[in-house]
Amino acid sequence: VGDELITRFVPERLREFRPRDAGGADRARLLALAKGRPDVINLNSGDPDLTAAPVAVEAAIGALRAGKTHYAFSGIPELRAALAHKLSAENGITADPETQLIFTNGSAEATSAVFQTILEPGDEVLTTDPYYGGHVANVTAARGVPVFVPTRSEDLWEPDPTEVERRITPRTKAFVFANPGNPTAAVYRRETLQALVEIAHRHNILMVPDELFERYVYEGRRHISMAALPGAADRVVTVNGFSKSYCMTGWRLGWIVAPAWLAGPLSQVRYALSMTAATHNMYGAAVALSDAARPYYDEVYRTYGERRAYFFEAFTGMGLPQKPPAAAFVGMIDIRRTRWPAAAAAEAFIRDGGVLLWPGTAFGPAGEGYLRVGLIQPIERLREVVRRVEPIVGRMLAGAPRG
Ligand SMILES: Cc1ncc(COP(=O)(O)O)c(C=O)c1O
Repeated sequence: VGDELITRFVPERLREFRPRDAGGADRARLLALAKGRPDVINLNSGDPDLTAAPVAVEAAIGALRAGKTHYAFSGIPELRAALAHKLSAENGITADPETQLIFTNGSAEATSAVFQTILEPGDEVLTTDPYYGGHVANVTAARGVPVFVPTRSEDLWEPDPTEVERRITPRTKAFVFANPGNPTAAVYRRETLQALVEIAHRHNILMVPDELFERYVYEGRRHISMAALPGAADRVVTVNGFSKSYCMTGWRLGWIVAPAWLAGPLSQVRYALSMTAATHNMYGAAVALSDAARPYYDEVYRTYGERRAYFFEAFTGMGLPQKPPAAAFVGMIDIRRTRWPAAAAAEAFIRDGGVLLWPGTAFGPAGEGYLRVGLIQPIERLREVVRRVEPIVGRMLAGAPRG
């Protein structure tokens, strides 16, 4: 009976979705190995250990106490103004705060709303391989078909615009990508972003940059928002939120900067999905964007930079040379010198070291040869991870048998 009900009520594309998530079986096996072990150190998720700025927390609590417990359709004016100011000062994006800023429940709902709005069933959406799984899920749930553009660590995981263009068909509607990248930590250069904007014009498609990790860029590089580039105004739909840059994953607050022509239909779909986001969280978020929270988030920035430098250098020290791209928070550890498949290496890490990392292949075939790390533990815990995995890496490099 179960199968019959699934056939009748669960559309084929959703049944197919799991196998398409290349890491499904591997992830389940790794989680089974981790289960019931209190010693396990998780570096597999994207939820930061650090918490929101205390001034933002106080503002959210204050809002609740002051009776701000009603719907805030279209978002509160304070947040609208604070975000418009941030976008102009930090990102170089000019947007009408009254119409072009759409608040959502996390950036996840932002991406979902974009694809629910723009896709007809069977429309194609390009994304990178390795990809962020949420993008693929959002496209699939909106009856779209994801199409993958392989990227390489030699290019610091930036897609080659020619490879993007080559995959465009009459069904292509958009290219969605995380900049900075998850899982890759890629930081897109201006010329790459500009070339993609030109491709959008040439082929009548949209660009959907997801800038959720925008603050975690190092090595003297700077995050560049595609929407600030010449020609971007009508072709770029920016997705972003408070989860990572402001350590607010549980607050579920994101935003879209929509081109003026798309803002109306997008707001309608966003209203259909969940009407609006949590009012008191918007009061807190407005403060997170203010100068009062800046010293706190500057310290968060330094912390992730320190973790990134330590962790990748430690792997280089183990005999696995690392050349990570400039972003932090997440990243790909190059294990190609071990000649071990990523899934087998991840299994050895959890089984023999109690360290949980996803294989790069959980994010698409181009992730083979890499383990994906979330730098979501304090540096002392990262030191413990290094202590545990060093002998495992040593055995791999010495040609120990797999599995
Ligand atoms: C690249 C990227 N985009 C979007 C999301 C969704 O985050 P949220 O809905 O909390 O904003 C995540 C979460 O890990 C992510 O890594």
